[in-house]
Amino acid sequence: MKGFILAGGSGTRLHPLTKVTSKQLLPIYDKPMIYYPLNTLLKAGIKDILIIVAPERSGDFLNLLGSGKEFGARFTYEIQDKPSGIAEAFIIGKEFIKGDACTLILGDNIFTDDFSEVIANHKEGAKIFVKEVHDPERFGVIEMDDAGKVLSIEEKPANPKSNYAQTGLYIYDDKVVEYAEKIKPSARLEYEITDLNNLYLADGKLSAEIVKGEWIDAGTFESLHRASVIVREHELGMNAGSSNLEVKIKMPLETKEDVTV
Ligand code: G1P
Repeated sequence: MKGFILAGGSGTRLHPLTKVTSKQLLPIYDKPMIYYPLNTLLKAGIKDILIIVAPERSGDFLNLLGSGKEFGARFTYEIQDKPSGIAEAFIIGKEFIKGDACTLILGDNIFTDDFSEVIANHKEGAKIFVKEVHDPERFGVIEMDDAGKVLSIEEKPANPKSNYAQTGLYIYDDKVVEYAEKIKPSARLEYEITDLNNLYLADGKLSAEIVKGEWIDAGTFESLHRASVIVREHELGMNAGSSNLEVKIKMPLETKEDVTV
């Protein structure tokens, strides 16, 4: 299982904060934002991770994260020249995937759940993670039947069919590059993750899981602030200042245990 963190984009919605660095490097409580999605992948035992960044900010990411050794992992970097959509990650990362399965997480998405089991058990198709929200029109919106089967996914619809948002965590089988190569850019000129997931859905190969804990897309001033408050409350994240090869990860509230990845 390979890992992807998508940390591109220009972050214009967060100006002036993002005039000097990338959105995914802004502080969430006491850590740079990207530490949290990175933590989600590391906790799930994913050690081979491609980090996709915007050209102007690539040096900042390298300075912060380096080779990955410090985290017991191996990091590879690729540039996304323009913010052309999440699904473009699989075109950019085609050589990196080399026919493996992969998990992609957005660099501005923070979760408190532990996804180790569902990632380890993934065999075929695509899996998305959904969360009930009060502002579904900001997200990909999932329509499900009573049994939790996905009926449709619409990207930022004006009239959402449900309050279930598609979060920024996705697991795919080894066919993901094939599917991604079929996608055409949308009206906003992006390779949409929703279009990729709809291709899997059309083939009967998409399943959804509800996120039980907190989920924050930290892309606005409001959600950025809320993320810091929630993270502080949950004491989520790595213990600061680890200079050796181990990274101490504090588990979410339920267990309150320290584990070492
Ligand atoms: C993207 C996806 C959207 C998803 C969201 C989760 O939106 O296109 O389907 O719900 O991430 O954070 P974006 O943040 O690119 O507007």
